[in-house]
Amino acid sequence: METITNDIRLATSKDASLLALLGRITFRESHGGYIEDKTNLDAYLDRAFSFETTARELNDDNNIYYLIYKNNFPVGYAKLVKNATSEFIHNQNICRLERIYVLEEFISQKFGIDLLNKTVDKAKELGFDIMWLSVYIKNTKAIKFYQKNNFEEVGSISFQIGKKGYDNPILAKKL
Ligand SMILES: CC(C)(COP(=O)(O)OP(=O)(O)OC[C@H]1O[C@@H](n2cnc3c(N)ncnc32)[C@H](O)[C@@H]1OP(=O)(O)O)[C@@H](O)C(=O)NCCC(=O)NCCS
Repeated sequence: METITNDIRLATSKDASLLALLGRITFRESHGGYIEDKTNLDAYLDRAFSFETTARELNDDNNIYYLIYKNNFPVGYAKLVKNATSEFIHNQNICRLERIYVLEEFISQKFGIDLLNKTVDKAKELGFDIMWLSVYIKNTKAIKFYQKNNFEEVGSISFQIGKKGYDNPILAKKL
């Protein structure tokens, strides 16, 4: 019988091209359908997931990236931003789960929960009190996933892609 091993690794600056590619693909897979104007989507992907942007973010000590592998194949990643304050949370000792993305083919196989647990453990180890995140209002799968893991809504903000605004609930979890 095949033995499957899941492995989470801290990403380093050497992982910039891999993370940029995973970021671009997973964003298009999960959010591409919500964005009507594909020119806006392409422009956003070019900007947010370029090699240069990803390399810069990886080299920023305020960010922690984890990559998750299935049998040495990268299937997802998470980005934790330390010391990211929020207008909705009256505590300065908080961090943000800015991204958690699994390739579509591997969703619902517990890679998301493993990534979340790893990130939460790291945030606790670093002494943060609260973890917060924003999520697109129509992303019901992710909202359900966060609610199951004790994130609660604390506010909402709008998010702009091109000329269109999208509402994002802000969820937070006590660590
Ligand atoms: C959000 C995301 C990372 C979650 O990962 P996932 O692979 O779907 O989730 P997992 O398989 O790890 O866990 C979810 C499953 O475990 C269950 N589960 C989740 N948390 C649980 C918990 N604490 N206890 C018990 N069960 C739990 C859920 O019922 C779910 O089962 P289902 O998918 O069969 O209904 C993933 O769906 C994803 O990448 N989505 C696209 C990108 C995205 O939207 N990211 C978030 C942007 S804000």
